[in-house]
Amino acid sequence: MIDGHTQLFGIIGDPVEHSLSPLMHNAAFAHLGLNGVYVPMRPADLAEAFKGLRSLGFVGVSVTVPFKVAIMDFLDAIDPVAQKIGAVNTLVFERTTGRVHCKGYNTDWLGANQALAEAIDPAGRTVLIVGAGGAARAVGFGLIEAGAHVLVTNRTEAKGRELAAQLACPFVPAADLAQVRADALINTTSVGMDPHVHGIPINPELLPHFPVVMDIVYAPLETRLLREAAARGCRTVDGLNMLQYQGAAQFFLWTGIEAPHAVMRQALLDALQSPHA
Ligand code: ATR
Repeated sequence: MIDGHTQLFGIIGDPVEHSLSPLMHNAAFAHLGLNGVYVPMRPADLAEAFKGLRSLGFVGVSVTVPFKVAIMDFLDAIDPVAQKIGAVNTLVFERTTGRVHCKGYNTDWLGANQALAEAIDPAGRTVLIVGAGGAARAVGFGLIEAGAHVLVTNRTEAKGRELAAQLACPFVPAADLAQVRADALINTTSVGMDPHVHGIPINPELLPHFPVVMDIVYAPLETRLLREAAARGCRTVDGLNMLQYQGAAQFFLWTGIEAPHAVMRQALLDALQSPHA
């Protein structure tokens, strides 16, 4: 029930209408009986939108494509890991001092680490990251925070080498992948995503070299990568885990309350399985 005390949360992005975050966060508010609402918003002008969020009393806001980098110019403070990643996906507004203070965080790396932790503790492990885009940056810096040894491979070598240099880790060209052994492989590319469901970001014959295989693609939930990996005896972690855990980390930053993980995951599953997904 929305009333005069309802706390405001939301997501800014463009497009934003397919975001599953409203379902996940509103399910958590309902489950815990918290008086909050989380809405999708598509800003026509980011600077104006940010002023609006500040002045209207928003408590927490998610930031998605294409605003994750541009939003950083407006913030009063930025979490050090988000600064290293170079992208913010979470805003926390604080009004305790009379003035509104907004700090930016990145919970994608927290989500990735917690998702991987479903299968193995990343500390001291070697993890091969496939891809070198924004998602790979968050996953890569996050793994380093967690004490993992990272390797990067990418279709476009120059871009892969650039990320590897920033992460101070080795780059593995496609031709050398057969020699690589690692404790886990994480796909951060969109390869395998609906409707290109037959795509796979690595030769499946190499999958036995990676005891744990994680995908950040969640539509379909079982990508070809995860299916081929499971068929070869690897442990698999689906993309819904990262989405759910990054959302849970946001929920905690905003409310100070441990997120109801099962409720959030079920809301995401229901949405993906609905005919309108
Ligand atoms: P995001 O911010 O979501 O990570 P991005 O910055 O566009 O998106 O990065 C996409 C990543 O997926 C890149 O590593 C890209 O590889 P290139 O650098 O070679 O473009 C990778 N990618 C996308 N489509 C791919 C495909 N069909 N095969 C291999 N890699 C692909």
